[in-house]
Formats: sequence, C-alpha cells, structure tokens
Amino acid sequence: MPTNVTALPPRSTPLQPRRRALLIGASSGIGAALARRLAAEGYVLALLARRADLLQRLCEDINAACGEARAVPYVHDVRDHAAIPDLLKRILADLGGLDLVIYNAGVNLPAGPEAYDFENDLLMTEINYVGALAWLDRVAAVFQQLKSGQIVGISSVAGDRGRAGNPAYTASKAALTCYLEALRNRLGRYGVHVLTVKPGFVQTDMLKHAQRPFMVISPEQAAADICKAIRKRRQSIYTPARWGFIMLIIRLIPSFLFRRLRFLA
Ligand SMILES: NC(=O)c1ccc[n+]([C@@H]2O[C@H](COP(=O)([O-])OP(=O)(O)OC[C@H]3O[C@@H](n4cnc5c(N)ncnc54)[C@H](OP(=O)(O)O)[C@@H]3O)[C@@H](O)[C@H]2O)c1
Repeated sequence: MPTNVTALPPRSTPLQPRRRALLIGASSGIGAALARRLAAEGYVLALLARRADLLQRLCEDINAACGEARAVPYVHDVRDHAAIPDLLKRILADLGGLDLVIYNAGVNLPAGPEAYDFENDLLMTEINYVGALAWLDRVAAVFQQLKSGQIVGISSVAGDRGRAGNPAYTASKAALTCYLEALRNRLGRYGVHVLTVKPGFVQTDMLKHAQRPFMVISPEQAAADICKAIRKRRQSIYTPARWGFIMLIIRLIPSFLFRRLRFLA
C-alpha cells in the first residue's frame, strides 16, 4: 500500500510521454541513488522497501527537487510473496503502466570464515534470489504480453565464483545472474530487454561487511553506470567497468588454484 501518499504522479499522455519505473529495494544505497537519478531523468517512480521512514523521506526529497509528485513509496518485504500480485496491480494502476522494473533488494550477512549459519543463509537466499523470482516472474508475464519493457537485476561480482568468505551470498547472486540470463533469452523475442548489473565494491551500508574492499565507488557512480546501460539496452555490465577485466581473469583461474588464493577466494 502507498504510505502517506499525498499525490500520485502525473499520467503519461501521447503529448507528454513519461517513463514509469518500479524500484524494489529503494530505501538506501544504490537503490536510493538510482531513484534520485531516474527521477532527474524524468521517470515517475514506485519505490519499495521495508523501512517506511527512509522511503517516505526519499520520496519527499525527490518530489521537492522535481517540483511535482514523481515518487510514491510502498512499504513491502520481498519475502511477503502473497502480497505481490495485488501490489503489482496497484502500482500498474497508480502509475498508469510500467516501462522499467529494477530488482535491487539484497542483504549480505557474513557468518565468518569458519562458521555456518543456516538462518542467515536462508534469509539471504529469500531476499537476494527468491524475492527476485517472486517479483520478476510476474513482471516478465506482464511485459511479455505487452511486448515491451525493461527488467534490471542488481547481482554482484561475487556471483561469478564460489567464494569461501560467504558461500550463500555468492550462491544467491550466481543464481540471480543465471535467472536473469534465462529471462533475457526468453523475453528477447518479445522485445523485452533484460539487464544484469554486477557491481564491485560500492560505498553503502553493505560495505561494512566487506573484507579489504578496493576500487570502491559511490552509489551515485553505480547509479550513473546503470542508467547509461538502461538507455543503451546493454545485456550485462560491471560497475565500475574495469571489474569486467578483473573478473575475466578471476573466472579463468582453475579451481585447484583459486581455492589456494585466500585473498581472492
Ligand atoms: N555495496 C556493494 O558493495 C555491493 C556490491 C555488489 C552488489 N551489491 C548489491 O546491490 C544491491 C543494493 O545494495 P546496497 O549496497 O545499496 O545496500 P543497502 O543500502 O543495504 O540496500 C539494500 C536495499 O535492499 C532493500 N531490502 C533488503 N531486504 C529487503 C526486503 N526483505 N524487502 C524489501 N527490500 C529489502 C533495503 O531496504 P529495507 O532494508 O528498507 O527493506 C535497501 O533498500 C544489493 O542487491 C547488493 O547485493 C552491493
């Protein structure tokens, strides 16, 4: 349900077309930076996350900066699968349709190099991967029928190799990357575009858990790279781009060697 909505965004009309985006996991970090950037580019936005206060403040900031209602908050936990069909219908009605859906929700709960914690692993899997299935399966069905639309998934460089530091996080991102590729292969023939984003280290709350982060970029820089890739209808990007070269090398390292490189694995 929209929280404290004072006004819905203006409708898209043939004379004044507006692109409409749904951003899942928008309250902080990369999601909040993306919301600000998309609004500045003229999108009207449905912003989803659990923290109502952050969402509300973000929408107020965006709407004040744009001088009109551009962003609407919807408090939602992606693990509440039963709520998704009605919420998606509601957002489609509130925004008058959708052109772009970004699945950005994610958590990283490291257990420590020697520890195992099933509860944390389940939570990461449910939010980072199962939540994406729950939302994007439904969005894909709508876009397939419309024969248009863009889907973006925020995965991670962490999903390119099975890393000892946090097995469940890397596995959840590997699953998301593979799912997005499969969606792209399905939906391409219907004119629906699917973009996979693999950030390196981004200066957000999530970085608190990172060991030895390097080449750290701001969420604003990540958002700028993602928006450019959306405009250019790229299939997959690393942000920043130099991670593409680094991960090419890392992917080529044989397993028997990779597991000995403690600083990488
Ligand atoms: N920061 C990095 O270095 C880095 C690197 C690679 C990939 N990534 C990926 O980038 C994405 C954004 O992360 P970030 O770095 O910007 O961290 P962040 O600031 O912690 O943002 C995570 C976002 O996900 C939302 N979220 C988490 N659990 C949710 C749930 N159950 N239901 C709905 N929304 C939920 C959070 O909102 P609420 O808590 O309000 O629900 C928040 O808006 C994640 O998918 C992350 O895995 C980040």
